[in-house]
Amino acid sequence: MVVVRIGDRVYALDDRCSHQKVRLSEGDVLEDELEIECYKHGSTFSLATGQAMSLPATRPVLTHSVTVEDGTVYLDTEGQH
Ligand code: FES
Repeated sequence: MVVVRIGDRVYALDDRCSHQKVRLSEGDVLEDELEIECYKHGSTFSLATGQAMSLPATRPVLTHSVTVEDGTVYLDTEGQH
C-alpha cells in the first residue's frame, strides 16, 4: 500500500502500477493534480479514485478508505475500485 498525505488529506492506494507490477511508492506525487506518477513509464493515477489518468496504464488501481482520528491513520485493507 502507498499512503500519501497532502495537507490534511490522506490517500491510500495499492502500491502496484496496473500496467506492470512496479511500486507506485517509488514515483512522484503530483500535488496540484492529486495524482501519483509511476516511475517506469509515466502513467499517473488519481489519488482519490485510483483511475489511470494517462497511458500506457488503462486500468485503475485499488484505493483504500482512510480515516484520521486524533492524528492516527486508519486504513481499510480491503480496497475498492
Ligand atoms: S509500469 Fe507503470 S506505467 Fe508502465
